[in-house]
Amino acid sequence: MSTLKAVRGTRDLLPPETALWNRIEAKAHSVFARYNFGEIRTPIFEDTSLFARSVGEETDIVSKEMYTWEDRARAASEKPQSLTLRPENTAGVVRAYIEHKLGETGQLQKLYYIGPQFRRERPQKGRYRQFSQIGAEIIGPPSAGSESPLRDAEVLEMLATLLDELGITGWKLEINSVGSSADRARYNETLRKALEPVAPRMCIDCQRRAVTNPLRVLDCKVPEDQPIIDALPKIADSLDEDSKEHFAAVTAALDAAGVPYTRNDRLVRGLDYYTRTTFEFTHGGLGAQNALLGGGRYDGLSEALGGPRAPGIGFAMGEDRLVLTLQAQEAATGEKADAYIAPMADAKDAEKLKAINAAALALARELRRAGLRVELGEGSFRLKKSFDAADKTARRIVILGEDELQSGILTVKDFSTGVQIKVPRAELAGVLVAPSGQ
Ligand code: HAM
Repeated sequence: MSTLKAVRGTRDLLPPETALWNRIEAKAHSVFARYNFGEIRTPIFEDTSLFARSVGEETDIVSKEMYTWEDRARAASEKPQSLTLRPENTAGVVRAYIEHKLGETGQLQKLYYIGPQFRRERPQKGRYRQFSQIGAEIIGPPSAGSESPLRDAEVLEMLATLLDELGITGWKLEINSVGSSADRARYNETLRKALEPVAPRMCIDCQRRAVTNPLRVLDCKVPEDQPIIDALPKIADSLDEDSKEHFAAVTAALDAAGVPYTRNDRLVRGLDYYTRTTFEFTHGGLGAQNALLGGGRYDGLSEALGGPRAPGIGFAMGEDRLVLTLQAQEAATGEKADAYIAPMADAKDAEKLKAINAAALALARELRRAGLRVELGEGSFRLKKSFDAADKTARRIVILGEDELQSGILTVKDFSTGVQIKVPRAELAGVLVAPSGQ
């Protein structure tokens, strides 16, 4: 019988990697709380038309990548319905905003989410068919300030803080403005005309995009097409005065807050709902799939879905990519337990062995309750076996033999320096919490 495996593009997450996922999520919850966001959880599947009307029929996501099925009716009162596993979460959030009439509160809604998304993409490093996003949206009536460039800057500043606090070093913020929907339509036409004479020399995808959705040509990564794309008209020249002013205000606020960025006038993003500000944070260590996160404004989305006017801005981080980045960084530093407790007894003396194992469990409990990450050894191990096990899993080893138990003074060895010291039990947690080497 053939063995069953996880479906292509999906993965099991196992320890110790899951600890990193939990750490990232805990940090996200705490940073979002500090910026006064509340959590929203929307269903994992939605009516297919939600994505067609928001992300856009012509996008790769909707035209090629969605997991869609005809859901059978279970009763005469039900109709068959086309359903789709969500490929992203902004559409679901805006649907919920409309459905629950959140706009009637007159307040800005600041909502975040953490959860799986599904796209039938070609799997590669950092690109999966089931992946997880950590995202947030600020949406509300214009009277609540939802259109203000300050919102854009606040979101970008929050992201810089979150990435810094996660310990991700070397990220880059790229921003652009795609203007109002009228600006975008005008630019699309300008591009269409500019592409007519050159498209036949471009890749097959660009030849198609030049006709169906010229803006998407700017996403092309084929090296031979780059000089042609660089010579195309720039979106900055199609922006109206309001959009230009908005963008200038966003960049001025970023300058004032000290958030570094570069302008990338090809950043049009792969979803149709964007207006004005678009952005991505990238990381060089990720390879081809280098976007840690992406986002932007979607001032017309609520109305496109039949809702009230409700401009918004948001982003989604690829959690899988955050994990990859941190794993690569931590491979250098190594993430280990604070201490390995090595109970030491004469393995032939069953009573003593039992007693020392019990004492080691009590000590581990004490240290874990003090917030330390502790690995508990086994009293029947010889000293060398304990040291080998400890060296692999922890920064320090704590030896607990009969002498130590009686005197209350423990032997602690720091693996990074090789230094061994005696520590009274009451001071142990304080010593172990310090970074190794001190
Ligand atoms: P997106 O650029 O399609 O935007 O996705 C955001 C992030 O999700 C990407 O930058 C990437 O890190 C991650 N991601 C996307 N596809 C995959 C995949 N197949 N495997 C792993 N990670 C992936 C959105 O989804 C918008 N909803 C963001 C947004 C929120 N805009 C406004 N509000």
